[in-house]
Amino acid sequence: MRRVLVTGADGQLGKCIQKISKDFSELEFEFHTSKTLDITDSKNSAEIFSKGNFDYCINCAAYTNVEQAEKTPAQAYKVNAKGVRIVAETCLEHQVTLIHISTDYVFDGTKKTGYLPKDETNPINEYGKSKLQGEIYIQETLKDYFIVRTSWLYSEFGKNFYKAVIQKAQAGEDLIITDEQMGCPTNANALAAYVLGLIKNKATNYGIQHFADGEAMTWYDFAKRILRENNLEGRVKLDKAKNYRTFARRPKNSVLLR
Ligand SMILES: NC(=O)c1ccc[n+]([C@@H]2O[C@H](COP(=O)([O-])OP(=O)(O)OC[C@H]3O[C@@H](n4cnc5c(N)ncnc54)[C@H](OP(=O)(O)O)[C@@H]3O)[C@@H](O)[C@H]2O)c1
Repeated sequence: MRRVLVTGADGQLGKCIQKISKDFSELEFEFHTSKTLDITDSKNSAEIFSKGNFDYCINCAAYTNVEQAEKTPAQAYKVNAKGVRIVAETCLEHQVTLIHISTDYVFDGTKKTGYLPKDETNPINEYGKSKLQGEIYIQETLKDYFIVRTSWLYSEFGKNFYKAVIQKAQAGEDLIITDEQMGCPTNANALAAYVLGLIKNKATNYGIQHFADGEAMTWYDFAKRILRENNLEGRVKLDKAKNYRTFARRPKNSVLLR
């Protein structure tokens, strides 16, 4: 039976993988949260890998607070770059295939059409830079790896835009949402199924891939769709934000094409 280590198992994607892992009876899973496996701790990682006899590692561990990363970039680099290098080196030592999750924010958003895996990267915020450095470390270290870039994750787990829109609408709060960024909302459950499918199908098309399961839209369009899907249309006012500013710069277009 093939053994699969999942890091960051308490995060949004990690929880989706835990949920559907039951449908993959041919795989044996070991789930680790940040409390039982800190990917920035090489000793801790070595211990877990030595005991585990894993065939695959799905790295869901990440520093994902885009705004905070701008203020304290060292924290983001510690997990998304140095931590990922430790994961890659430990995978190499134990002959484990790494499936790592990366982001649409490795792109600067100036392309007029969607981004392909081979397109030039040029992150414009610290989170994106730290994630790109993680990708580079993996490419320098391993031959058998998948880097799966994804975008705008939502699910029933964790904090995400989908849940925030529903919560605000149910509380009767009007919504002002930017229409200045285009991307592909992606259900984290679909991403979880895709990643486990790579293992199930013994995929060998190693390298960088893009996975997004929704059509391209703006955050404003996405909010509109969320309200419609949950019969909340008309309950609150939905306006387009003019000159919406966040601390971290965000790519205007981060549509991912396969
Ligand atoms: N969310 C999105 O919209 C989005 C978009 C594009 C790409 N991605 C990528 O998709 C992946 C999954 O994202 P997600 O939404 O599931 O993120 P998430 O909910 O923030 O989960 C990340 C998990 O990583 C854990 N973690 C943080 N530092 C760690 C460390 N040093 N060692 C081990 N675990 C650690 C966190 O645990 P603690 O809470 O205990 O710190 C958390 O459980 C990430 O690689 C992210 O960059 C996400």
